[in-house]
Amino acid sequence: MNSHTIVIKIGGRTLSSQGVLEHLVADIAALEDHRIVLVHGGGAEVTAYAGRLGITSEFADGVRMTGEEEMEVVDMVLAGLVNKRVARRFQAAGVPSAGICASDGGMLTGTPLLHPDGNPSRTGRVASRNPTFLEHLLAGGYLAVVASTFTDGDGGGLNLNADDAALEIATMLSADALLFLSDVPGILRRRGTEDASSEGEPGTEDAPELIRRLTPTEVEAEIGTGTITGGMIPKVRSSVAALHAGVGIVIIGTYTEDASLKHILAGNSGTRIEQ
Ligand SMILES: Nc1ncnc2c1ncn2[C@@H]1O[C@H](COP(=O)(O)OP(=O)(O)OP(=O)(O)O)[C@@H](O)[C@H]1O
Ligand SMILES: [Mg+2]
Repeated sequence: MNSHTIVIKIGGRTLSSQGVLEHLVADIAALEDHRIVLVHGGGAEVTAYAGRLGITSEFADGVRMTGEEEMEVVDMVLAGLVNKRVARRFQAAGVPSAGICASDGGMLTGTPLLHPDGNPSRTGRVASRNPTFLEHLLAGGYLAVVASTFTDGDGGGLNLNADDAALEIATMLSADALLFLSDVPGILRRRGTEDASSEGEPGTEDAPELIRRLTPTEVEAEIGTGTITGGMIPKVRSSVAALHAGVGIVIIGTYTEDASLKHILAGNSGTRIEQ
C-alpha cells in the first residue's frame, strides 16, 4: 500500500477512557506505511480544571474565548497533562512518538481574536504555518501527538480549537484524509425535523438519526436551523475548509473500543463531508 498521510483529531472526552486510548494505540500501530499526526482535544478537562481555580470558561460559536489566566490552564492541561498522557502511552507500546504543541518548530503562529467585550482574548487566529518540523518527525518515523496551543510569535501562548489545528495541519501536509473522532457517532439530527433522505440507524422514535453525507452548503444550512451547535460547529467548518484545501477524505465520527480506523477511513461509519 502507498504511504498515506492521515490527520486524526480525537476529542478529550473520547480519549479520557484508558480502554479507548489503548485500543487507538494498537490500531495506529497496525497502520503501517502511513504518516500519521494525532491532534487531541481536551476541552472538557480544561473547563473542569479552570473551574477548580474559579475561572469561568466562555464560548462563542462553540469556540473557547480564552482569558489570560485561563491560557495558563489551557497550556497546563492540553500541552501538559493530556499531551504527555497520550504520547507516553504510544511510546510504551513501542510506537516512536513525540508529544508536541502547535508552536513547536514554528508550526503555527497567529494573532489574538477579540473577545465579544472588545478586549483581546488568548484564542488565536492562525496567520502563518510551517510544516518543516512535522515533516522531520514523520520522515523519522515518529508519530506526532499534537496539542493545539500555539504562539503569537512574541513568546506568548495562544489557544486554538483542536479541530482548527487539525485542519491547519492536514492542509500544510496535503493530507489524504482528515478524521474528526468525537463522542458522538457523527452529525446527528433529531427525527421528524428535516427531510428523510439520510439513512439513519433504525431506533426509537426519539433517537436522532446519523447523517451519512453532508455537502458544504448543507453544513451551513444545518448550523442555521440549529441542528449543528456547540463543539460540532468548529468541526464542520474545519471539515469544509479541509475539503476546499484538497483533503480527499473528511469524516466526522466516533472512536470506541470496538472501532477500527480502517473501517472509518473506508467510510463505513460516521458522517462524510463531501461535495
Ligand atoms: N448535530 C450534532 N450532532 C452531533 N453532535 C452535536 C451536534 N450538534 C452539537 N453537537 C455536540 O458536539 C459535541 C462534540 O464537540 P465537542 O467540542 O464537545 O467535543 P470534541 O471536539 O470531540 O472534544 P474536544 O473539544 O475536547 O476536542 C457533541 O458531544 C455534541 O454534544
Ligand atoms: Mg471540540
